[in-house]
Parts: sequence; structure tokens; C-alpha cells
Amino acid sequence: MRLIIASNNKHKIREIREILGHRFDEVLSMRDAGIELDVVEDADSFLGNARKKALETAALLPGDAVLADDSGLCVDALGGAPGVYSARYAGEGHDDAANRKKLVEALRDVPYEERDAHFACSMVLVSDGKVLAEAVGKVCGKIIGEERGENGFGYDPLFYYEPFGMTFAELDPETKNSVSHRHNALMLLLAALDEENA
Ligand code: IMP
Repeated sequence: MRLIIASNNKHKIREIREILGHRFDEVLSMRDAGIELDVVEDADSFLGNARKKALETAALLPGDAVLADDSGLCVDALGGAPGVYSARYAGEGHDDAANRKKLVEALRDVPYEERDAHFACSMVLVSDGKVLAEAVGKVCGKIIGEERGENGFGYDPLFYYEPFGMTFAELDPETKNSVSHRHNALMLLLAALDEENA
């Protein structure tokens, strides 16, 4: 069976291929599968958005498995915000830098001990209208008051990972990918698939 990833992000596709590739005949991006679809991510949870993306994409690809993910940053002191609005925290059309600036300002008066946050990633695997497996991965950290590091994207320069004493943007990509919410979700998804076939 082919696995189509509901994304065209090269980094995501490589990471997913490395972890799940041996379970499928082929792993392709949407573009490589000849699909162009912009699913509206309007659910109120990461899992809801991932399910919606996977089911709508799979409807165009009978006989294939489709994997969709949705992820974002949840900050305890902000009641879980930006959450599902992570990509557009500073408003539609704003970029990662504007989102980070808004986050730094929102936490200006919050002491370090209360700056707990986590990245979350939901992954949903669907085939022929049926959900085959779902997984939610997390990684915990602290949001610091100024940006550190040049790697990564999104909130990485503000996400301080205490076990390594560095922000995600200071880590090399392989190291980040070995502890990330996406990696953790993929490992859980693989375990769920293995359990189903045991
Ligand atoms: P998506 O699920 O890839 O669309 O991610 C949604 C948004 O969450 C991104 O635009 C980023 O703002 C944020 N985000 C998700 N994963 C990461 C990450 O690994 N590092 C930094 N920001 C992330």
C-alpha cells in the first residue's frame, strides 16, 4: 500500500519516511501523488484538524493510506494559547517573527518558573474513509524572554529545552528531530500500527 503524506513539507516527509517507510511500498508527498488540496483547519483541537485533513485528502485517494498531522505550541500561563492558532497567533498574514514577538510580550511579567509550555503534534492515518491509527506526541519546555539560535522555524528560538540547556533553534536539526513532538507522535503511531498487526 502507498502512504501519501497530507503535506508538501520536505522535512516532514523525510522524517516520516525514515520512521514509517518500511511499513509501506512507497511514501509520497501530496504533490508527488498529484493532489492539490487546501483543507480549512477550523477544528478546535490538533487532533480534530489532523483528522479532517486526513479524511478529506484520503477521499481523493482510494486505495492509498493518508497521513496528516497538525501541531502547535501550548503555553500554560496563557491557558494553552496559542494552541491551534499557533501559525496565525499575531493575525492572518503575519509571519513567525510577529508570532514570537507577540508571545514575548504576552509573557513579559511572567516569572521563569511559570513559563512552562509544550509543543503538541497529532497524527492521523486514514485509508478508505477509516481511521487506521492516531497518536499525540508532546515535548515540554520553557518559553524564554528573548530569542536564541538560528535553526528551526516558528517558535523554536523561544522554546528552551531544559535537558539540553538550549533552545530548539540552538540545536542541530537532527538533535531537535530526535526529541520533537512530531518524532514522539510518529513513534507512538508506529507502535499503534505494530500493535494492530500483532
Ligand atoms: P503545522 O502543524 O506544521 O502547520 O504547525 C503550525 C504552527 O505551529 C507553525 O506555524 C509553528 O508556528 C508552530 N510549530 C509547530 N511545530 C513547531 C516546531 O517544531 N517548532 C516551532 N514551531 C512549531
